[in-house]
Formats: sequence, structure tokens, C-alpha cells
Amino acid sequence: MPPRARQPSLASSLIPDEPTLTDLIGAAAGCQACDLWERATQTVFGEGSEDAEIMLVGEQPGDREDREGEPFVGPAGRVLDEGLEAAGIDRRDAYVTNVVKHFKWTPRGKVRLHQKPNAAEQAACRPWLEAEVRTVAPRVLVALGATAAKSLLGSGFRVTKDRGRFVESPLAPHVLATVHPSSILRTDDGDERRAAMQGFVDDLTVAAGVLR
Ligand code: URA
Ligand code: SF4
Repeated sequence: MPPRARQPSLASSLIPDEPTLTDLIGAAAGCQACDLWERATQTVFGEGSEDAEIMLVGEQPGDREDREGEPFVGPAGRVLDEGLEAAGIDRRDAYVTNVVKHFKWTPRGKVRLHQKPNAAEQAACRPWLEAEVRTVAPRVLVALGATAAKSLLGSGFRVTKDRGRFVESPLAPHVLATVHPSSILRTDDGDERRAAMQGFVDDLTVAAGVLR
């Protein structure tokens, strides 16, 4: 991961020694280490087994995730599920989480429009992600989209150029980045959508290859 924020995030003081995932979920529920908790419904922590061999990291919960309290359960989650299935990965064998654990949004009429978490918010939340990586210790780690890729692999990382192949990282034995499932939803229906989905599945298939 890139260098930490100079001030250690307050979140680190909430993390117990040798935590289980249940400990982490409980501790993160009360996190106020940045301002995002105030306008969100709840902390959306990662979901999956402590024994998961593959961890997938998105950006932050969306509107549905914020209401339901689970990551990737909305439209992007459906694309993720479809991609995982096509790549032969059972979501139940994966641990799914986000760089930032609270939904950042701005009102646009009746909808809550997603806003990208800034560098300070990402840094504030990093202790939670680091604790998840330590606790689950996945063999394979997949960054979903540019925010996660830059956060995990450095600001110079370019998903367009470096997607779908393993890169050296201390985070896990096998680390790779692919596009964010939401980017597939933003493509035009038809050929463009199919090509984007195929690219996503191809990248996930590379990750699946070291799981077997
Ligand atoms: N987008 C993300 O990055 N994460 C989620 O959990 C949902 C949508
Ligand atoms: Fe804490 Fe992360 Fe939520 Fe900020 S976004 S309050 S650091 S859990």
C-alpha cells in the first residue's frame, strides 16, 4: 500500500489485537474516524469467510449497500456476481469489501448520488482494510476499479494499462486489478456492454487460475 497518512488514523485505535472478523465488524460499527459516518446509515464492512482465499476490494458502499449494510448487494453487486460465476468463482468462497466503509453521497433530486471518497477519507479508513487483509490473509487479492487499485497499489497504477495481470505486492501472493463492475453498467447496452463484461470475466479468470 502507499504510505500511510502522516497522522495515524483514529480508526487504528479501535482495532483490537489479533481481531476476528466479528471483532472488526463490531469495532467498525462505531467508527467516526472521518466525517462520512454522519450522513451514512451504517458502516458497511466486508463480507465473507475468514478463510476466504480470494478478496475483492471495491471503492465504497453505494445507496443499496448503505441501506442493507452489506457490500455489493446493489446493481454493481449483480454484475460482480455474474462476473464471478462466469469465471468459476463462488461468491461464497470470496471475501468482498471496499476501500471506504461509509457511503459518500450528494443529493440530486430524490436520489443519493455517489461521490468518490477523497484521499483523506481513504487514508482514514485504511486501517480497516489493512486489518481485513491481515485477518483473512487471502492468497488472491483483486482491486475493482481505479480507486481501489490506486489505493492498494499506488497512485501511479493505471487500470486501463495494467489490468488483468498479477503485480508484485506485499498484500497477498497474487494481486491483480480489474475494472469496477459499475463501469460495465455505464457502457451502452449491446456490443459495448458484452465486450466490457467479457474483459471483466477474463481478468477474474486470471485470478481464478491460481485458486485451483
Ligand atoms: N460499489 C462499490 O465499490 N462497492 C459496493 O459495495 C457497491 C458498489
Ligand atoms: Fe470510519 Fe471509514 Fe466510516 Fe470514515 S468511512 S467513519 S474511517 S469507517
